[in-house]
Amino acid sequence: MTTELNMNFIAGDWLAGTDANRNINPSDTSDVVGEYARADEKQALQAIDAAFEARQLWQRKTAEERSDALDRIGTEILARRDELGRLLSREEGKTLGEGIGEATRAGRVFKFFAGEALRLGGEKLASIRAGVEVDVVREAEGVIGIITPWNFPIAIPAWKIAPALAYGNTVVFKPADLVPGSAWALSEIIVRAGALPAGVFNLVMGAGSKVGNAMVTSPKVRAMTFTGSTGTGRQIGLRCMERGAKVQLEMGGKNPLVILDDADLEQAVSVAINGSFYSTGQRCTGSSRLIVQAGIHDRFVAAVVERMAALRTDHALKDGTDIGPVASKEQLDQDLFYIANAMEEGGRIAAGGELLQREHQGFYLSPALIVETHNAMRVNREEVFGPVASVIRVKDYDEALAVANDTEFGLSSGICTTSLKYASDFKRNSTAGMVMVNVPTAGVDYHAPFGGRKGSSYGSREQGSYAREFYTSVKTTYTQA
Ligand code: UN1
Repeated sequence: MTTELNMNFIAGDWLAGTDANRNINPSDTSDVVGEYARADEKQALQAIDAAFEARQLWQRKTAEERSDALDRIGTEILARRDELGRLLSREEGKTLGEGIGEATRAGRVFKFFAGEALRLGGEKLASIRAGVEVDVVREAEGVIGIITPWNFPIAIPAWKIAPALAYGNTVVFKPADLVPGSAWALSEIIVRAGALPAGVFNLVMGAGSKVGNAMVTSPKVRAMTFTGSTGTGRQIGLRCMERGAKVQLEMGGKNPLVILDDADLEQAVSVAINGSFYSTGQRCTGSSRLIVQAGIHDRFVAAVVERMAALRTDHALKDGTDIGPVASKEQLDQDLFYIANAMEEGGRIAAGGELLQREHQGFYLSPALIVETHNAMRVNREEVFGPVASVIRVKDYDEALAVANDTEFGLSSGICTTSLKYASDFKRNSTAGMVMVNVPTAGVDYHAPFGGRKGSSYGSREQGSYAREFYTSVKTTYTQA
């Protein structure tokens, strides 16, 4: 059987690449999801040129025209969410429910920014000079370069592309090489349902070293937004800084979830299981450090272990699967490395952490709970990005807060408690960008600002109306009438 090649979209045309990528299903490595074109640097530059040429045309469309385009895109995504969710689960490995949920979120993001396109306002200030008017307006930046990770193959592209287009920018989009399928399907909807003029949106699949590099270094790309690893993010940041480009980076997390003695045990267990293991733990917002007060520690661990025994790790598309496979062999090796390392450093596996054989050959790992860990261990310092959570025992709230904040990251944090006093104190003093009380550290609303502090994020927030800070440039005008 020959597989059709899914092509790149550059300057208004679907184009083959210089190479092709076989997209493999991590639940069943004999299942090829499709072949996807890989562009080289030259094709990436063509896309950048096209986006640069198209920018004035798109900026000068009315806000209503841009809003309508986003609305049509959102409508089609929502109408096809089951099919898009299935494709997503097949290529990335999160469960079908999670895949459909993510596709739904992508559709909602487009709907939200269809509204935001119309809401872009400014400010009028009193001048210190008589007869002078001061106006503050926001304008499109120009060409936005977008690089997205493999763990949210449709939602993250949506929450970067939708605001970029809403505010009048043109786009060059490079999805993760591991999961081009959802990105391709999304792009096909964007160009067709959006009926965008040539050059406004470009899909350039391929390697970071070629396509990403062209975007990061081209003077025509005004702003770069990136979600992915801390190492790559820092490199992109430095190189953008070198040429004075705007940059927004969403990188790693080592998110703490504090469980206090006074927590509702059932609720705390659900919050921990969801935050640590859903989406196979492959979320930068995942709860990887469970910081548990001594009085509830043993009961909490026992209850989590019991709930973990009921979690079914299997083919992402199979009925009844709670946890899908790890997305790739490389990620699986990384998960196993950290589990082994935690053992060497004195941790003990309370449950899971085993490679599983299922009907199909895939990257199956049972979620791992590691106990008797301390915060200096490597598993508690570095992002694992898998279904691996470690438990750190603490004596009281003050120690829990100190341990929670003792990390180079600061994306998301959480606390399970029935005490208003501790919940309020934690909200005030947690050094994370997002703080959750009795809800999982992962799984955020699509209309609220998203982002972290310290080593997790750089630049302004994503999502919600806060996204305009990155996707627009402020202009202050003075008029003597
Ligand atoms: C979520 O927790 O709902 O890569 C979103 C990530 C984040 C998105 C998390 N940028 O995991």
